[in-house]
Amino acid sequence: MSKKILVLPGDGIGAEIVDEATKVLDCLCGEFGLDVEMDEALVGGAAIDATGVPLPETTLEMAKEADAILLGAVGGHKWESLDISVRPEKGLLGLRAGLGLFANLRPAILYPQLADASTLKPEVVSGLNLMIVRELTGGIYFGQPRGIRTLESGERQGFNTLVYKESEVERICKVAFEIAKKRDGRVCSVDKANVLECTEMWREVAIETAKAYPEIELSHMYVDNAAMQLVRAPKQFDVMVTTNMFGDILSDCAAMLTGSIGMLPSASLNESGQGMYEPIHGSAPDIAGQGVANPLATILSVAMMLRYTLDESEMADRIEQAVNTVLDQGLRTPDIYSEGTIKVGTEEMGSAVIAALKA
Ligand code: IPM
Ligand code: MG
Repeated sequence: MSKKILVLPGDGIGAEIVDEATKVLDCLCGEFGLDVEMDEALVGGAAIDATGVPLPETTLEMAKEADAILLGAVGGHKWESLDISVRPEKGLLGLRAGLGLFANLRPAILYPQLADASTLKPEVVSGLNLMIVRELTGGIYFGQPRGIRTLESGERQGFNTLVYKESEVERICKVAFEIAKKRDGRVCSVDKANVLECTEMWREVAIETAKAYPEIELSHMYVDNAAMQLVRAPKQFDVMVTTNMFGDILSDCAAMLTGSIGMLPSASLNESGQGMYEPIHGSAPDIAGQGVANPLATILSVAMMLRYTLDESEMADRIEQAVNTVLDQGLRTPDIYSEGTIKVGTEEMGSAVIAALKA
């Protein structure tokens, strides 16, 4: 039976990059026998404009029905003045919560062809290949109570709550350990156990959970030190596992080590392996509609989809190989362009990947 993919282009460059990624899926269907059906729906600002809300009921229902979701990006200046409860970002958070996508995998891989694109010295980043496993449906992002209240003094006070249940920590640690088994077997759990009780417990649960994984080498790091180590010596890490907010911050940092956030895919998985796949970068309103956005992160997100949800790891390999080929050919969108390479636009890059797939 064919698998269902829900495509959510979202806002800004979302539509342009998702277009190239769906062409790649079409190519896999035509050339290599992939059997998927694609449907499309609205999310984010596009959904606000059309329906008044960032995550229409129909979109969530369609997402629940799908085996996998391919998302572009959400957000943009146009919606920034809206109340936080109805901003485009809420569409994304609603999908994560509504589908229980608790495990966010964010690889940071440096393509050797792009070593110059990093702001760090080549010897610090060359060969970098780390995986951040970010908890995605809990922590301070979703903790209650939250809000902004007015104190008796008349002054306003903003508040959010950092909460984790043991079971939530245990299941994300298990995901990290399972991933590390297929890699170098090392997991660094990042917390702030010296200050925050919630993450003191996080550390205890990580240690307890690791007992069932004797082959895994578990270490711990405070988040401030982790931020520093990521920039100082990022290759010391294999897999990092951390809370929702720490993962948000550290994954942007890790992405930039590779020089180009435009290259990095991500997967968000739930207990049943259903997943949402999206580039790590945002909607980039400044370049939207110009045909210059880098579609490779979205195309690589399709590779993750094939590997983690559709069980087609050979096709995933093919995509990753094709991306390598176009980089070898010297093709670069502006975000990864350097002297001596060939500057191309979104569509040209997508077409080159398809040509490499067919070659
Ligand atoms: C991310 C983004 C989102 C987050 C925003 C857009 C809500 O920064 O996926 O990292 O904070 O999780
Ligand atoms: Mg982020």
